[in-house]
Amino acid sequence: MELLTAKWLVSPAAQPALEQAAAFADPRSLAAGSAMRKRWTPEQSAAALTQVALRRKAVGKFGESAARLFFTPDGLQQATRAAVASWRAGQLRTAGASAVTDLGCGIAADSIAFARAGLRVRAVECDPVTAVLAAANLRAACPDGAAEVIQAAAQQDESVTVGQSADQAVFLDPARRTGDRRSWRLEDLSPSWEFCLDALRRQQLGCVKAGPGLEHSLIPDELGAVWVSESGELVELCLWSGNAAYPAGSRTALLLPQGDELPIPARAAPAERTGQPRYLYEPDPAVIRAGGVTQVAEAVAGWPLRPGIGYIASEQLIRSGFATAFTVLAELAFDERTLRSWVKANDIGILELKTRGLAVDPAVLRRRLRPRGHNSATLILAPTDAGARAFVVQRSF
Ligand SMILES: C[S@@+](CC[C@H](N)C(=O)[O-])C[C@H]1O[C@@H](n2cnc3c(N)ncnc32)[C@H](O)[C@@H]1O
Repeated sequence: MELLTAKWLVSPAAQPALEQAAAFADPRSLAAGSAMRKRWTPEQSAAALTQVALRRKAVGKFGESAARLFFTPDGLQQATRAAVASWRAGQLRTAGASAVTDLGCGIAADSIAFARAGLRVRAVECDPVTAVLAAANLRAACPDGAAEVIQAAAQQDESVTVGQSADQAVFLDPARRTGDRRSWRLEDLSPSWEFCLDALRRQQLGCVKAGPGLEHSLIPDELGAVWVSESGELVELCLWSGNAAYPAGSRTALLLPQGDELPIPARAAPAERTGQPRYLYEPDPAVIRAGGVTQVAEAVAGWPLRPGIGYIASEQLIRSGFATAFTVLAELAFDERTLRSWVKANDIGILELKTRGLAVDPAVLRRRLRPRGHNSATLILAPTDAGARAFVVQRSF
């Protein structure tokens, strides 16, 4: 989108175009495009229709406020979910910040949460179009003017510095230049990873959002690490400096929206195998990434089904907020013929396959097992000391 079109899009003049675009069931259709172009220029029509399509896509991340926000495709993809942004903002407040500089604010999802938490916000964004949309989003979320957007490149523009006072925090959520949300290669980040770590070192309080798959060995010792999941989906690694809740070297798993936290001790003794796997536990992905499987195993009187895989076996059924518990109904050898016969014999039509630690594509295997019956079942496929196994399980809690 051109800068001129972006400025028009966030102005009152574009409101009727956005309302007209929102009335189309499919804003990407040819019919929608030609109807819009009767009243608006081709650029304006395309911008309004794209915006409506992005707002619909954004509902999952932003709920009903998606209908009032402005997005670019990249801005939406890289934006922090509302629950995570609001946790981060609350942390900054509790840790003593009254102002925050967001270096690389995107469409301002984090900055909006900062402003709503009562922080003064200085949001810096190098992309001119994104900066225009961010400013509109912040104006709408925070009409009292406690948030400003500066269009500049944080790494090059000397004027973009962060104040040194103790109540002034810094936040960085560097862009993944490849556009692939899964890649998170450190050398692809902008601003650069070194710049982000340096910004944290210069401030008393701050945090960097990183990919949850970042190697533990690449996390600097002076930072506290929090792996965050929302509704069972691993979403980010938040690295803190100067926040007493997450001191240097600490490792924590945080499960949102409930807010349960599992601090992981530096060295947890591996649990001994004690009996038959009558129950299997699947820890939340944030717990697995944070290295907390041993700790959850201890809490459910269990042992890792196989070290490094994530599943826990136990003879006891103990509720844990950090893992889903399954009752084992049967244990089968993991081979296709055995499983296909089992599916047929049990008249299975809906088959949930969960797997870790095996080179299996559940969608492909499900097709090959031909579930065509009337019953439903869940299978956990995993390596064990006795070889690969298929556990027929039932969710307990
Ligand atoms: C991952 S996005 C930020 C998303 C934001 N936290 C949110 O939740 O909406 C990173 C943003 O940083 C911007 N950016 C990249 N390098 C920058 C730099 N050197 N200075 C300022 N902004 C930069 C990109 O244009 C992109 O919009």
